[in-house]
Amino acid sequence: MKILFLTHSFNSLAQRLYIELARRGHEVSIEFDINDAVTVQAVELYRPELIVAPFLKRAIPEAVWRNHVCFVVHPGIVGDRGPSALDWAIMRDCAEWGVTVLQASGEMDGGDIWAAETFPMRLAKKSSLYRNEVIEAAVRAVLAAVERFQSKDFKPQPLDYSRPDVLGRLHAPIRQGDRSIDWRRDDTRTVLRKIHAADGFPGVLDTLCGGEYYLFDACAEGTLRGNQPGGIIAQRNGAICRATLDGAVWIGHLKHKIDGELALKLPAALALGEHLADVPEVSPNSMLNLDYPLGVGRVSTRHVGLKPDLQIIDSVSTASVIEQTELKSAYGGETFRDIWFEQKNNVGYLHFDFYNGAMSSEQCERLREAYLAATQRDVRVIVLMGGADFWSNGIHLNCIEAAASPADESWRNINAMNDLTRAIAATGSQLTIAALQGNAGAGGVFLSLAADHVYAREGVVFNPHYKGMGNLYGSEYWTYLLPRRVGEEKAAALTQNRLPVGAAEAREIGLIDGCFGIDRADFLARIEQIAEGLAASPDYPALLQEKVARRERDELEKQLDTYRAEELQQMKLNFYGFDPSYHVARYNFVYKIPHAWTPLYLARHRRIASARA
Ligand code: COA
Repeated sequence: MKILFLTHSFNSLAQRLYIELARRGHEVSIEFDINDAVTVQAVELYRPELIVAPFLKRAIPEAVWRNHVCFVVHPGIVGDRGPSALDWAIMRDCAEWGVTVLQASGEMDGGDIWAAETFPMRLAKKSSLYRNEVIEAAVRAVLAAVERFQSKDFKPQPLDYSRPDVLGRLHAPIRQGDRSIDWRRDDTRTVLRKIHAADGFPGVLDTLCGGEYYLFDACAEGTLRGNQPGGIIAQRNGAICRATLDGAVWIGHLKHKIDGELALKLPAALALGEHLADVPEVSPNSMLNLDYPLGVGRVSTRHVGLKPDLQIIDSVSTASVIEQTELKSAYGGETFRDIWFEQKNNVGYLHFDFYNGAMSSEQCERLREAYLAATQRDVRVIVLMGGADFWSNGIHLNCIEAAASPADESWRNINAMNDLTRAIAATGSQLTIAALQGNAGAGGVFLSLAADHVYAREGVVFNPHYKGMGNLYGSEYWTYLLPRRVGEEKAAALTQNRLPVGAAEAREIGLIDGCFGIDRADFLARIEQIAEGLAASPDYPALLQEKVARRERDELEKQLDTYRAEELQQMKLNFYGFDPSYHVARYNFVYKIPHAWTPLYLARHRRIASARA
């Protein structure tokens, strides 16, 4: 079938649906929702059999929905109507939520229902629920709805509030007033719920250090306590810890609200700057009295991952400033960590859970140190775990934008990524596995290819290209790592076409070695099996030797330094040259400037039309 996606942007949900529908033989073209006239023109050009709206912020024009079946993907249970669906579900602590595919009609979210799916809720960021539960449910619902549409004998169900199984209701858009935190009354769980419900966008507006900031990226703190709810009691790796009535929460990111100015989401410490001069930097392990970096602690309940019989080690240096904050309880197990290491038997698991998968210079440097420390341990296999929601999206474009010289910071960041990638690619003492629980984009994809084995969860989406970011050439040794896996021709297609690639296709073309596990728990269990199997294999010494020999052969053919120098020569032009495309694209990306048109590599209908003209 010819399917037109009408969408606000080609976001993670739209990309995943595109992959799943294309895999089932459908031809999908994409049009961004710019305005009604452009939408009508796209429909005339493409003449689709079906229109799907994965992510819309406006109503579909009447001229379109009256003449075509349009599926709207609504992130809510049957009967739920209105914007902020997921936000309200989190705020109201719903035990179950869902996704409904309904037909666009004159009434917003009131059309006939083609398919619906539900899932159990968890206390998590809205962005995390969206990228996991919502996307998986949406894929199931859209595929069912498309099959029903093709069968031609399915009658969609009108919305009927008198039915006992229709539990959703029309709700008003959520306002900042609904979200605001009352630090004197709200307990930790309420504070977390409010910030989670606004995560990604728009954040919870609050007052901090005399300014107005939107809060994002929260997690609970098990030990640190303060006397003044709302007060900042500690900082760690860019995040701040604020006391609550009955505990404390970490806040990783802030966006400064200044009237009349565009705002940038930044690590909290960067956003607050000198306001934090007297706030102690607190290591998660300082209260555990560990020998850095080889101590043994507890598995944080926040990072539900491998089984809790593991050693856990933080890769941050211990600070002795803990006395400055009041400790009211024993170590509770929950805290903020962005890099941590677990060891079980002969396998080391290095986690790096960076918000949105963006990796600043400083994070790359810390991760490289942690990686090198892991290689010194008594482990035969190192598993690079990334984070629960993202593996990596490459250099940190927001931190770059905020720097005094974005060009200099881009240069520093890409070099830090390269140093990290190189450390992994050149490891001769262990076998390495990249375990992608979440999506990877741009440099993040190539970082994963530095490992000896690459595995992804089934739903993972790869964007193995840089070009969309203002013609960025890219580095991270991609000119070495990509062709050695997929060949020169495929490497050129992947980097030029700029399309997302699903995990199954990635495996078929050799970009990765395997994909499995519908959910994270399945995926992690298989990863552990594979890693343990590799470490215990009688072939281990031969495999390690073979890997070292291959690296030596490759190095003789062309040095890693040469690949890097060639890539960086191009990057220098991107950062410092006369063509400002990268700086413009980065600005538009970090400030979320709406698209003015759909690029031709996505809009197949416009490509065909311009070829005909
Ligand atoms: N730096 C900073 N922030 C980044 C980022 C990066 N490299 N990559 C993604 N993000 C942020 C987005 O701004 C967005 O932030 P928000 O939560 O404030 O809205 C969030 O991560 C999710 O990104 P989004 O684009 O909504 O996710 P997606 O799954 O729809 O798209 C990508 C994934 C990878 C296609 C897209 O994020 C992208 O193009 N990222 C930039 C990759 C890049 O060019 N990196 C630099 C070269 S190495």
